[in-house]
Amino acid sequence: MAETTTRAVLPKGFRSAEHGWPELHRIPHPPYRLPLLGDVLGASRRTPVQDSLKYARRLGPVFRRSAFGKEFVFTWGAGLVADLADESRFAKHVGLGVANLRPVAGDGLFTAYNHEPNWQLAHDVLAPGFSREAMAGYHPMMLTVAERLTEHWDRAAAGGRSVDVPGDMTKLTLETIAHTGFGHDFGSFEWSRPHPCVTAMVGTLSHAQRLNSVPAPLSPLLLRRAGRRNAADIACLNRIVDEVVRVRRAGGGGGGDGDLLDRMLETAHPETGERLSAENVRRQVITFLVAGHETTSGALSFALHYLSRHPDVAARARAEVDRVWGDTVAPGYEQVAKLRYVRRVLDESLRLWPTAPAFAREATRDTVLGGEHPMRRGAWTLVLTLMLHRDPEVWGVDAERFDPARFEAGAVRARPAHVFKPFGTGARACIGRQFALHEAVLVLGLLLRRYELRPDPAYRLRVTERLTLMPEGLRLHPERRG
Ligand code: HEM
Repeated sequence: MAETTTRAVLPKGFRSAEHGWPELHRIPHPPYRLPLLGDVLGASRRTPVQDSLKYARRLGPVFRRSAFGKEFVFTWGAGLVADLADESRFAKHVGLGVANLRPVAGDGLFTAYNHEPNWQLAHDVLAPGFSREAMAGYHPMMLTVAERLTEHWDRAAAGGRSVDVPGDMTKLTLETIAHTGFGHDFGSFEWSRPHPCVTAMVGTLSHAQRLNSVPAPLSPLLLRRAGRRNAADIACLNRIVDEVVRVRRAGGGGGGDGDLLDRMLETAHPETGERLSAENVRRQVITFLVAGHETTSGALSFALHYLSRHPDVAARARAEVDRVWGDTVAPGYEQVAKLRYVRRVLDESLRLWPTAPAFAREATRDTVLGGEHPMRRGAWTLVLTLMLHRDPEVWGVDAERFDPARFEAGAVRARPAHVFKPFGTGARACIGRQFALHEAVLVLGLLLRRYELRPDPAYRLRVTERLTLMPEGLRLHPERRG
């Protein structure tokens, strides 16, 4: 289980990074900085993270960008990120996009400030929901949902049609978390368009990202319409979630065989006897629905893209599935972890495109980052995972190349710690990591076994950003294997 110490927080309104960095002037920033506006020349509002990647390459392992009077420090050099992983001096910082999600997710696990009592309470109550035993219980449901995907792809294959990969992976991962966590069926595969719940979730994520691209005092004016749409999205999510909870309570609770919702409603903290309040349950359900599907959907989509573009890798992965699973129609829980090469494909996809591309860390006391950059307590920096995973000093001059061999046991052992961080770090790292990995490896195994994945030769990878990353417009032609 993750370490569970609580941490100090920033004072309210302390949003810009510069205050806590006494030697900020030593950290490079892009040229052509404009007064008041900052580093906006050539900056893209739609792809801020990929923009930062561009600056990272030019400016080095730690750099800063300024926008509308706020200064942000980005860190990606492997040594510095390893230092930021030291939980005795640094903790999660709830800022930027994560803080912008507070109106929808409040003090739910992902958006809670470190000091909020509901973080520890919910963490302790929900962590057993991700134990090995709990995961083994979710496995049959994951298989059932995956069957709905393959039925859908079988029809496309029979008709010679292509499939919308991110769209279908989103349906799959939403249904998986909804079934396993909450005993709920959104009927996503019966809808030709995304479920309204998905539209609302994507809306809130995009809005949270957009809020970073305008000066805070002007956002009510500049984003008035978007703000109204966001309020409607939040209301829609609350309605859907309240209905899910109502149905469970009406059934007397406990109807979910100890799933996450049962835990939220029924389980008292083992030491304090405290329970989650009704309002907090609502926040947690929304948190798990969003956090539990969006990033896994992107991870599966990127992996399928790379598999379709690397027939040699796909053939090797498929051979592994055939060997390990044999003729078993429904692979068992234990048979998923045995797909070592498929897991490497997934890890390598998450290296190149960590679907949660950054996370923020704050100093919990006055300290010096990497022995070079003084930080006062409360100062924070954004860890640019997307660039950490491409640091040539760690991954070599061919860091941009897709190569699952990087995750062979020997290669992993030879690398320093903290250089692969798709699930964040420390006490606030991803609680759903094993869930996501199990689900994704299972689904990749099932798809590889059943189909040849033919790419559209004209497709060039474009990546959309809405806090998370997703390949845009990716379509594949699944062909049933003989
Ligand atoms: C490939 C899939 C996933 C990726 C890449 C991912 C990534 C992350 C990252 C980077 C964080 C830390 C964020 C920060 O430090 O601000 C995080 C936290 C979290 N994730 Fe995931 N995640 C994935 C899947 C999941 C799933 C499947 C669930 C739930 C079933 C989940 C639930 C959460 C929650 C609740 C937190 C907050 C934990 C806390 O602060 O205590 N995630 N995730």
